[in-house]
Amino acid sequence: MTGIEWLGRYIDAARAAGPTWLWSTGMTDWGRDPEMWPHLLALIPAEAHVWCAGIATGEEPPVLAARTPDSVHITATDVRDDALAAARAGRYPRGMVDGALDLGSVTLDDVHRMFPEYGRPSEWLHASETLLSRITWSRLDLTADRYPRAEVVLCRNVLHMIAAFERADVVDRLAAAHVPVIVGKSDRAHMDAYWRERFAETPSTPLILRAA
Ligand SMILES: C[S@@+](CC[C@H](N)C(=O)[O-])C[C@H]1O[C@@H](n2cnc3c(N)ncnc32)[C@H](O)[C@@H]1O
Repeated sequence: MTGIEWLGRYIDAARAAGPTWLWSTGMTDWGRDPEMWPHLLALIPAEAHVWCAGIATGEEPPVLAARTPDSVHITATDVRDDALAAARAGRYPRGMVDGALDLGSVTLDDVHRMFPEYGRPSEWLHASETLLSRITWSRLDLTADRYPRAEVVLCRNVLHMIAAFERADVVDRLAAAHVPVIVGKSDRAHMDAYWRERFAETPSTPLILRAA
């Protein structure tokens, strides 16, 4: 599949899915940044709480659940109620899942774990109840609310969206937990001096930060 064909399929699926997928600030994707995932999975203890902060329409938590043992619990949060409602429903357009499969950012094994009924013809895929039972969804504003306990935090492509005057406090609070924080490529591109003083990159990937 060419990039243009993939984009066409993505836009068609987004149109079918409704407005939440079309707002650029609420966009996410299946298995985003595939090269980072093996390093992330190596960081997660066998029994752990992982916090996914800023999950948009919620594709990240099911992938994480599919790739980790049942003893890993996931707290999935976002500030937007509409995004959370879409994520909680666990119902996703097939076109986007197939696009991610074609790109290689998820495997067929991931897809079968996430969607037990993938083999049946349907425009919509329903996430596995077993995987969903390991995910707690809740509204959380990173600039205002209390943070949950976690051994690893995924906060990808969110920090760059927070105004600089509020971001300093969020960066301080994330660093204070002294656990690995996974950011996104958009965040990395906006990482300022304040943020660099508090976080160091891991040698494995610049998307994984640790308190300096
Ligand atoms: C571009 S999406 C990133 C989705 C996903 N983490 C990824 O990397 O694909 C950014 C998300 O951050 C959320 N967000 C923005 N400001 C936030 C805040 N102050 N607290 C929590 N979430 C926030 C938005 O609602 C949006 O869903």
